[in-house]
This record gives sequence, structure tokens and C-alpha cells, in this order.
Amino acid sequence: MTQVRGNDLLIARSTAKEELRLTALQRSMHLYTVGATGSGKSKFLEYLIRQDIKTWIHSECGLLLLDPHASARATWVVAYVSASVVTDNMVDALAHVWGAGDTNKTPLMARTAATVFQALYEHKRTLVEALTILDFSSHDFRARLATTIEDETTRVNLERMNNLRPQDYNAES
Ligand SMILES: Nc1ncnc2c1ncn2[C@@H]1O[C@H](COP(=O)(O)OP(=O)(O)OP(=O)(O)O)[C@@H](O)[C@H]1O
Ligand SMILES: [Mg+2]
Repeated sequence: MTQVRGNDLLIARSTAKEELRLTALQRSMHLYTVGATGSGKSKFLEYLIRQDIKTWIHSECGLLLLDPHASARATWVVAYVSASVVTDNMVDALAHVWGAGDTNKTPLMARTAATVFQALYEHKRTLVEALTILDFSSHDFRARLATTIEDETTRVNLERMNNLRPQDYNAES
């Protein structure tokens, strides 16, 4: 049987909870959505796209939306794809707040901020706890966090914060 990458799609669910699905193979061919104006074509496509975004972590299949009339972009709040996208945007926002266009000249800040945001994100913590992660006396807290962090770069940097003396960590570029 032909193998294709990607996730299946839930198209509909009946009142008896029976599901109509398109398999990855079936959806690898063209899908043509027709209906009268206002019948829900765009909403239906949004529903499929959201499934793809949610499943990305398993399928690792990218998604490109071409919308010549820009109707989707105007009305949808499209979710983010992965934690690192959130983290990167937070770091960029931080740089922006401090008047910098990017973090090219502040690699230590970029690395530290990415570590903190990623750790908070993975553990569903609040920004208040960023201060605890950054506090050099919070050795045990960081060590505990590091044991359960999925992102390897973040884990390694949390360990570096613990293993280096504060002045050595801060002296890094
Ligand atoms: N399953 C649904 N449940 C509730 N409301 C829906 C559903 N599908 C669509 N709608 C609503 O119906 C309206 C029309 O939907 P939609 O824009 O998707 O239609 P369309 O077929 O793409 O229309 P057009 O041909 O004008 O592009 C929207 O306000 C949408 O929010
Ligand atoms: Mg439409």
C-alpha cells in the first residue's frame, strides 16, 4: 500500500458519534469544497487547517495557506505551530521593548531569555517565575526544571546556569 506522510482529517461526526475521516492517502489528492455563498466552506477549511496545526507535533508536516482573496487571514486567529515559535517571538518582543531591532548584538540575553521563556512555557508557569529561574541562588529550582524539560538547548543552558559561577555565565557572549 502507498505510504504518505501526514495526518488524517476528521470531516464530520454524526449524532451517533460515527466519524467520517479522510486518511492521509485520501487527502493527498485534490479536495474540492463547493457550496452556496455563506454555506460554510471557509469555516470548514479553517477546521481542517486547525487539525493540521494541532497534529504538527506528530506529523511534522508543514502547512502553507495561499489565500488570494485574503478572506481567511482577515477573520481567523490561526494558532502557533510550536513552543519554539512562541519563545522566539517573546525574545524578539523583549528586544523590541528595549529598543533593539534584533538580538544580534546581545546573544547572551537572547540565549538566557529563550531558556527562561521555553522553561516557563513547557511547565505552564507564569512570567513571575522568570525571576526565580534567573536568581543564581535558585540552584535546586533550575535543577528540578531541567530534569523534565524536553527542549535540549533549554535543558543544557539551565544546567550551565547552575554549573557556572554567576560572573562566568554573565561574561559569556
Ligand atoms: N459549522 C458552523 N457552525 C456555525 N456557524 C458556521 C458554521 N460554518 C460556518 N458558519 C458561519 O456561517 C457564516 C458563513 O460561513 P463561511 O464564511 O465559512 O461561508 P462560505 O461558504 O465560505 O461563504 P463565501 O462563499 O461567501 O466565502 C460565517 O459567519 C460562519 O462563521
Ligand atoms: Mg468563504
